[in-house]
Amino acid sequence: MAHAAIMDAFDPQAIAQAAAVIRGGGLVAFPTETVYGLGADAANPVAVARIFEAKRRPYLDPLIVHVAAPEEARLYGNFPEGVAEELMRKFWPGPLTLVVPRTWRVPPIVTAGLDTVAIRMPRHPAALALIAAAGCALAAPSANLFGFMSPTTARHVADQLSERVDLILDGGSSSVGIESTILALTDIRPVILRFGGTTPEALHEVAGEVAWAAAAGDRPQAPGQLPSHYATRTPLQVLEAAAPGAEPRSGERVGLLAYMDPGAPEGYAAIEVLSPSGDLRIAAANLFGALHRLDRLQLDRLVAYPVPEQGLGIAIMDRLRRCAAGRERSGTRS
Ligand code: TXA
Ligand code: MG
Repeated sequence: MAHAAIMDAFDPQAIAQAAAVIRGGGLVAFPTETVYGLGADAANPVAVARIFEAKRRPYLDPLIVHVAAPEEARLYGNFPEGVAEELMRKFWPGPLTLVVPRTWRVPPIVTAGLDTVAIRMPRHPAALALIAAAGCALAAPSANLFGFMSPTTARHVADQLSERVDLILDGGSSSVGIESTILALTDIRPVILRFGGTTPEALHEVAGEVAWAAAAGDRPQAPGQLPSHYATRTPLQVLEAAAPGAEPRSGERVGLLAYMDPGAPEGYAAIEVLSPSGDLRIAAANLFGALHRLDRLQLDRLVAYPVPEQGLGIAIMDRLRRCAAGRERSGTRS
């Protein structure tokens, strides 16, 4: 396939063209407030199969169904009364995905054969416009190759998938910058399957007690929870505590990912600061962009300072640790 055209997501003609691609069974990369998605008509199993091929994603890893309204969500999922409605009212449109029992309308390929389906209503106006114009829900994972970092700009998508999609909509940098929080409503208590753009604290306020899925080692319920996800090509080490020897040695080219202004640490070939003022929202929005930039420099290794583990910091540290684990487990990932 040739390189995909990149079109302005705020141009109604581009949206119309993208909608036609979706209706024809094609693939469109589109912006959301969390990360860019790789979308196909959720009701078309052949189109959905193309998503897995393009990403080289295992068919065992289910996709999120994106809708433009809560009423549409009910076509695909059976939402328990009460708390689900509260959650949709409070957090939709936005970075919260709900896992509920699926309806017959969802083809098995979307859910990898599970009886449950993950559904969310994104907040980016172009995503909502595309879903509305296509007239169908979009099955969409993040628009990156399987196991690698999620894209937060159209350029990130083009770098990884340009020859594997039909069209890329450019809607600017994703404002949240980290994937949606995935919350399962299939148990007595809501269970967080993936930390993301909606904080556990905010969920707790609406849904009461919220549990989170068992730690790594158990069978992952959301494969985004695999320890080796979100890998950079350059090995990354997260400095959980003072780690002697982490500083660059002479002749070594090391990149630093700092939360706030790190002063002037010596010897680093490149430094990215997530949020000079220490704002976790800004840090989340900058996370993948900074990692992509450092990764492109082809340095010997990367070092990341930790961020405070509260609010969005929980999701940021989750991604950084998985990124680091990815390299430890498969040193030759390509
Ligand atoms: O913010 C986001 O959620 C982005 C944007 C594009 O919407 N999407 C995204 O999709 O991150 P993806 O495919 O990269 O991650 C979706 C995660 C996967 O880890 C998948 O295993 C999990 O959702 N998932 C999907 N359906 C599920 C289900 N029925 N039960 C449990 N986990 C599920
Ligand atoms: Mg992903």
